[in-house]
Amino acid sequence: MPPLLPVIFKLLLLPLFLWLWFDTSALNVSLYRWPALDFGRASSSGSRPAFSSSSSSPAAETVDPFNHRDRSDRFVKGTRPTLIKNATIFTGTADRLIVQGDIFVDKGIIQDFGDSLELNLLPPETSFVNARGAWLTPGLIDLSSQLGISAIPRIQVGADANSHKGPVVPWLRVIDAVSPQDEGFRLALASGVTTVKVNPGDQNVIGGQPAMIKTRRTHEGTPTSMQVDPQSEPWGLHHGCGDDLATYGMTKMDAVWALRSAYHDAQEQGAKLEELCEDAAMEHCPDVSLIGNDMRTHVMRGKAKISVHCDQVVDLDAWAQVSREFELPVTILHGAREVWLSTGLLNQTWHGPPVVALSVEHNSGKEEYRDSQFAARILSDANITIAIESGYPNLTPRTLAQGARQAYYYGLSENETLAAVTSVPAIAAGIAHRTGYIREGFDADLVLWDSHPLALGAKPRMVWVDGALQLNVSRQENSRTHHTKNLRAPSTPNWDYERASAIAHAGQQPLKPRFSTNDEVVFRNVSRVWIRDDDGELRRVFEAKDPRSNGIAVFSQGRLLCADMFCLNAGVGDTEVDLRGGVIMPGLLAYGQNIGMSRISNPLSTNLELELLLPVSDDNGGMPRAMDGLSLQTRKALEAYRSGITSAVLHLLPRRFHGLEVFGLSVAFRPGALHAMERGAIIQDITALHIKLSTIGITSQLAVLRRLLYGEIERDTDEGQWFKHASEGIIPLVVDVDSADIMALLLILKANVEDRIGSSMRLVFVGASEAHLLATEIGRANVGVILEEPHPLPLNWDSRRTLPPGKDDIIGVLQKHGVRVGSGSGSRFVLAEMVAEGIMDETQAFTVAGANLEALLGIRERNLDVVAYFGGGAFNLSGKAIAVASVQRAVVDIL
Ligand SMILES: *[C@@H]1O[C@H](CO)[C@@H](O)[C@H](O)[C@H]1NC(C)=O
Ligand SMILES: *[C@@H]1O[C@H](CO)[C@@H](O)[C@H](O)[C@H]1NC(C)=O
Ligand SMILES: *[C@@H]1O[C@H](CO)[C@@H](O)[C@H](O)[C@H]1NC(C)=O
Ligand SMILES: *[C@@H]1O[C@H](CO)[C@@H](O)[C@H](O)[C@H]1NC(C)=O
Ligand SMILES: *[C@@H]1O[C@H](CO)[C@@H](O)[C@H](O)[C@H]1NC(C)=O
Ligand SMILES: *[C@@H]1O[C@H](CO)[C@@H](O)[C@H](O)[C@H]1NC(C)=O
Ligand SMILES: *[C@@H]1O[C@H](CO)[C@@H](O)[C@H](O)[C@H]1NC(C)=O
Ligand SMILES: *[C@@H]1O[C@H](CO)[C@@H](O)[C@H](O)[C@H]1NC(C)=O
Repeated sequence: MPPLLPVIFKLLLLPLFLWLWFDTSALNVSLYRWPALDFGRASSSGSRPAFSSSSSSPAAETVDPFNHRDRSDRFVKGTRPTLIKNATIFTGTADRLIVQGDIFVDKGIIQDFGDSLELNLLPPETSFVNARGAWLTPGLIDLSSQLGISAIPRIQVGADANSHKGPVVPWLRVIDAVSPQDEGFRLALASGVTTVKVNPGDQNVIGGQPAMIKTRRTHEGTPTSMQVDPQSEPWGLHHGCGDDLATYGMTKMDAVWALRSAYHDAQEQGAKLEELCEDAAMEHCPDVSLIGNDMRTHVMRGKAKISVHCDQVVDLDAWAQVSREFELPVTILHGAREVWLSTGLLNQTWHGPPVVALSVEHNSGKEEYRDSQFAARILSDANITIAIESGYPNLTPRTLAQGARQAYYYGLSENETLAAVTSVPAIAAGIAHRTGYIREGFDADLVLWDSHPLALGAKPRMVWVDGALQLNVSRQENSRTHHTKNLRAPSTPNWDYERASAIAHAGQQPLKPRFSTNDEVVFRNVSRVWIRDDDGELRRVFEAKDPRSNGIAVFSQGRLLCADMFCLNAGVGDTEVDLRGGVIMPGLLAYGQNIGMSRISNPLSTNLELELLLPVSDDNGGMPRAMDGLSLQTRKALEAYRSGITSAVLHLLPRRFHGLEVFGLSVAFRPGALHAMERGAIIQDITALHIKLSTIGITSQLAVLRRLLYGEIERDTDEGQWFKHASEGIIPLVVDVDSADIMALLLILKANVEDRIGSSMRLVFVGASEAHLLATEIGRANVGVILEEPHPLPLNWDSRRTLPPGKDDIIGVLQKHGVRVGSGSGSRFVLAEMVAEGIMDETQAFTVAGANLEALLGIRERNLDVVAYFGGGAFNLSGKAIAVASVQRAVVDIL
């Protein structure tokens, strides 16, 4: 065979291999757009240096020809130019971080901003907005979203997110599954989120290609028209890791092997192609289109990006090793709950540390167990660039801003926190040439806030995407006026001690009270003392008119002895606590959250992490009791206690009983207690009977419920007896229900049962997302409502008719009709947001998270525990719980 033949043969094969082409010279071109960011790291002393305006300027500051455009490729024809006057503009650019002035947008881009705009040159059709000094930020960017692919209202979670065709699916593209009709887009916009990175699910070793999309509705109404860069190249690849892969029955070792072998194969194929090119004596392998290409080769050559969702150190370490073996540059590390435990680990990633996108979701599962609320600050101290991401759809889109507020509350600086939801995610996602900053020539994606974006309850008043107005919440539309407008970032507590303790104990820091005493405890410099009297009524014992008239409160055996300016007749306390102007307020009651069902769970919420086992369906122990599953002194219970939650009502996971979902009997207890036999630990061993009803199978479920309540079936069983008690009004029947249709049927059933038995049922709706539709009827029937969310979302079909954002709130509507409302969120943070939003005042907040819940859930004993907050109120970000005084336990716990 002539020597030329093999070469010709290989040349013929070349087209087959073109799709595997790679070119090392491309490495420098598209790989990194992000620079070193320096947001004025906090020094170890805890003081915060000012924002650095040093030479470390973000990449996008270097003049990008892109920004010399005079119109956006996303410009919507007919959009009027807009001038926003007198705004406090957070630009994201180090040397002009905050600019007081005006901003002019036209043709989809920011044309000009600053304090001296030439206003006389404006086009006549310009629309004007007077911001009156309010904050204007770039639209928020969420790096971890399943908007569009877990579209709501939904029947099944994550339907289009995770492929089940195998662990390695680099050819899948998210954009092929994005539903533009997803209600979530509207909610995202209302929460200020204008751009999202939609990731395929985390349950694949290589899950596919994410999409960067904007949240506004487009004229075309198609997913492709929503992409940030209409002409963009594919983003790259998203990877899952760790326990998420257990769906495939994969262990950690299996998963890393699958990853390694996937990139090994790609490497081999690439090498083969190079050989072909060499043999063909071609200087450069020709460029090819990406169609049909395997994205793996592209990310290996730095032509596309890599994102990894990894939580545990062990998985992160494995990824760092693999990234070095195959020279894979990781752009974004999502989730990253344990990374704060081992910050040096990130340096081992090939080509340097990725941007860490911390998830705001705090669960109590295995992967999240060592999560810390201080993670953002600790990573920032280690000079690691952080973004904050929502983790939607497990959480509401609103929580991106809430997550940012929590990171800020726990010590991240103001500027860094704002950057973590704007410029940093833009840089990490490779779109910082057009979004994430307020700069001339950038996309006009803007949010005008009603208060400082990090203030509790801050909400977007107006949102623009590509210069087109998407949201306009005028004051008249909202029946509650915002009485306070905080234009300054709230002050936050000093967490140096807690943070150091978390680091020293690798996340397992002791959370028990430092000590407990039944002796006298003296609180000094107290601004307000509110307690509940023995009937449970709120009593304002002491209120200082100004800081100079702050007073003293003395407790003994956990009971308040005196509270006034001097407390002269009190003895000398063994323990003295300086509250620095703080308050003493009743403890809060949390309702019904348990492991495996955690929804919004932030560090200030409960998630009691009890050892709740699903009761077996054919057990003969009768109605399951939550009391039997109680385990105390868990981390989440203690964290809840430390945030001011002094009692909790808990029910089990549901089991099927004649097709009905029954949670069993709930228990009320004190999360600060050592064990169930300690004095005051159990408030009431049986509180209420809990069930759940939803549209699927509703006819047979209601039939069963009717017969149970009428006493027609299960007469002689324990279960049947408890339903009979419920029909007789001996215990409350608490029904988890969202649909107004089902609530109406329950109201009718209640009337029928009462007619027949001559009783008065104590019926309570939980969740109740659509309750506003029949507020009058619920009020008239004397039925209570426990809301788990101040603003329920149309997540499921049963809750699709929730009130839209920016309008009236459901609590207000229900209260107007005389419905007794309890707040089941169990989170001081959520209550504080409601107070800040003006949905309720502080007094009402204690009622909905105290007396009302007790009454609705059938708790006979009033919890009289009070909490002392250091440096601020119970419902604002400057306060921090520091002690709990309990009459019933006869002690004061110093936290
Ligand atoms: C990549 O960039 C570095 C530093 O900017 C430069 O020294 C090197 O020559 C570049 N490599 C290629 C292949 O362009
Ligand atoms: C944030 O940046 C502004 C403007 O540069 C500066 O005045 C302020 O001190 C910074 N705040 C912090 C906490 O670094
Ligand atoms: C901007 O608004 C603030 C608050 O309403 C006001 O005090 C200030 O005078 C306004 N500045 C200008 C330049 O209009
Ligand atoms: C990681 O590398 C950076 C820059 O190379 C360095 O500043 C930092 O101290 C390193 N971190 C650790 C924990 O080694
Ligand atoms: C972080 O960066 C600052 C300034 O660049 C430096 O002083 C400090 O030592 C760095 N910290 C760590 C943990 O690398
Ligand atoms: C926002 O809504 C208010 C009240 O509906 C209206 O007066 C105002 O013109 C709107 N703003 C813009 C920019 O459309
Ligand atoms: C009380 O606390 C406030 C706020 O920290 C402080 O300004 C004031 O000096 C304190 N007063 C006394 C008497 O310690
Ligand atoms: C927090 O609340 C306390 C009392 O409720 C109040 O005195 C203080 O000014 C508030 N702080 C902020 C920053 O709103």
